[in-house]
Formats: sequence, C-alpha cells, structure tokens
Amino acid sequence: MKKILAIETSCDETAAAVVDEKINILSNIVLSQDEIHAPYGGIVPELASRQHIISLTYVVEEALTRAGLSLADIDAFAVTQGPGLIGSLLVGLSLAKGLAFYWQKPLIPVDHLEAHLESVFIEQPDLPLPALGLLVSGGHTSLYWLPHRLSYQLLGRTRDDAAGEALDKVAKFLDLGYPGGPIIERLAEKGDGEAFPFSVPQMRDKSLDFSFSGLKTAALKYIREENISSNHPRFHDFIASFERGVIRALLSNMKRAALRYRPRSVFLCGGVSRNKHLRQAFLKWARKKGWPAAIPSPQYCTDNAAMVGALAMFKWLTKSTVSLDLELNAYPRFIPEGDKSG
Ligand code: KG4
Ligand code: ZN
Repeated sequence: MKKILAIETSCDETAAAVVDEKINILSNIVLSQDEIHAPYGGIVPELASRQHIISLTYVVEEALTRAGLSLADIDAFAVTQGPGLIGSLLVGLSLAKGLAFYWQKPLIPVDHLEAHLESVFIEQPDLPLPALGLLVSGGHTSLYWLPHRLSYQLLGRTRDDAAGEALDKVAKFLDLGYPGGPIIERLAEKGDGEAFPFSVPQMRDKSLDFSFSGLKTAALKYIREENISSNHPRFHDFIASFERGVIRALLSNMKRAALRYRPRSVFLCGGVSRNKHLRQAFLKWARKKGWPAAIPSPQYCTDNAAMVGALAMFKWLTKSTVSLDLELNAYPRFIPEGDKSG
C-alpha cells in the first residue's frame, strides 16, 4: 500500500501528515503558532518562517511516529507549493525536496486552495458532482464550481477582505486576541445575533463576488460610536450580530449561485467553516432545499497536511501527468483564474 508524507507550511501552522493509497489519514499533526503571533494581533511573516524552521522536523517525526512508520516506508513526498507566505512556503518546500532527493522518491506539489477544496472528499469521496463549493478562510473567500474532481471554476471571490480576515480584524480592534474567528464564535454564544443590524453587502452587478469591508467598517463604527468593549452591556449582542452578518453575507451568495447553477451538491471548506453557527446555518438551508451538503470535520477545515497528502495521493493515483520535478519553486499568490484543471 502506497504512503505519502505530506508537509504544509504555507502560513502559520506547521503541519505534517501520512496518508495511504485508500486515503486513510494515518496521522495528522498540526502545530499552531497562535501564541507567537497573538501579541501582534496577526501573523508576522518572518516569525512564522523562523518558527517553521524550528518545529518542522519535530512535526514530521511525530507524524511518522503516530503512523507507526519510518521515512524508509514512505513512497512519495507531498508539499504545499503556494499560495501563502513565501518564507513559510520555502521552509516546507526545502525539507520536502531534501527528503525526496535523499530517498529518491517522487515529490508531488500541491496548491493550497485546491487542497482546501478537495478536503471535502477525504470523508465524502462520493459527494455528487457537479458541486458548488465555498472556500472560506483567513486569506480567501471564493465560490467554485466543481464539474468533476481536480477541476475548479471560480464563480466569485472577495473584492476586499476575506471573511476570516474581517473576523480577525474586528477581534483585533476589540483586543480580543488572535485568531479572532474562534474567539468571536465563543463569545457570540452568549449574545443575540439580531440585536445590531448588519446589512448584507449587495453587488451592483450580477456578480457572485463577496465584500466584507462594508461589514467591517460598520462594525468599527458601532464600536466607536457606542464605545463597545468587552465590559459593555451589549458586548455579546454586538459580537453575535457581527458574526451573523458575516454568515449571512457568505450564505446569500451561496444561495444565489445554487439557484443559478443548480449543482448536485453544495459544500463549505477552509478555516472559517469550522464555525459552528456557519455550519448550522449552511446545513439547515441545504436540508430545506434538498441539496446534498458536506463540510469537512473541523481538523480538516483549518490548515493541515492531511488535505495536502490526500490530494497528492489522489493525483498520483489518477493522473499520469503529476509533476515529479525537484526544480519546483514556491509561489506566493493565487495564480489560477477561471478554469483550473490541476
Ligand atoms: O484555512 P485557514 O486555517 O488558513 C488560511 O488558509 O487562511 O483559516 C484561518 C482563518 C482565520 O481567519 C481564523 O480566524 C478562521 O479561519 N477561523 C474561524 C474559526 N476557526 C478558524 N473563524 C470562525 N470560527 C471558527 N471557529
Ligand atoms: Zn488555508
């Protein structure tokens, strides 16, 4: 049975995983750098790369140990090539290249966004296609049409902030800590999501693009005008209302796209899709409309190497064109526009 060791260091999680050819996740280790970046209220790229270089070999060792394997048992290596922070990507890429070079095994590059999109198939390999997928993370908020596996058409993307970025920025403004998404989720539990009106952003054209800067600005205006801080009597109501505004903005585009494109299934992926209020609202809507729906388990939503290994294995098994090139380079930005047939 083939086994892949996958490495993911595109942002601020140091991650390694082992995946077998049946897409069983034999191990999935994620070392968060949240504590390092929290004092700054956001990711400091240089600190992220420096921490990856310290932690990565330990994380890889742990992934092998948990899988009960050694490097000699690994048949191929996989690594996130981009998009992401360039310094962080280079740390993962260097180790993966070194391993592939030493062991003379294939090195399979993986696009971070494709890995998020395909993470839904780890647990639901038979999800009906074509599917409509919403990738919602700290760096991206994009809606994709998936006619079949490894094929993605971009239908809409954020014109300004990503959803996770908007949650993180408002949390930072209120000094709540980093990352803001999970903190806001927890605080929202105690509040009334209808207490503060946040309107859903409307695009003038018929596009399925997103925008979160209006919501963020409205939130900052309330904070200033009503002097909102964590000891304000309506603090929890404010947080719950803002979270609900973000969820409504995400789902309203998903709903419009579903009506327009009539997919056979709908799914969410990416870090923000860990949010349980978003998960509940999405599943409730899908159930009501009768769409088969999927969201990866929380550990496959935020950055992880299992999704990288799973996609690499799927490509290796199904495509003869997988590049096994040791010259591959990192790319920092989102490259593909429109149809990307991996
Ligand atoms: O996918 P991810 O780990 O990294 C990127 O590729 O960006 O997503 C990170 C984002 C952060 O903005 C974080 O605040 C958000 O996901 N996030 C959440 C939750 N957990 C992580 N947002 C809302 N609720 C959560 N439970
Ligand atoms: Zn990500």
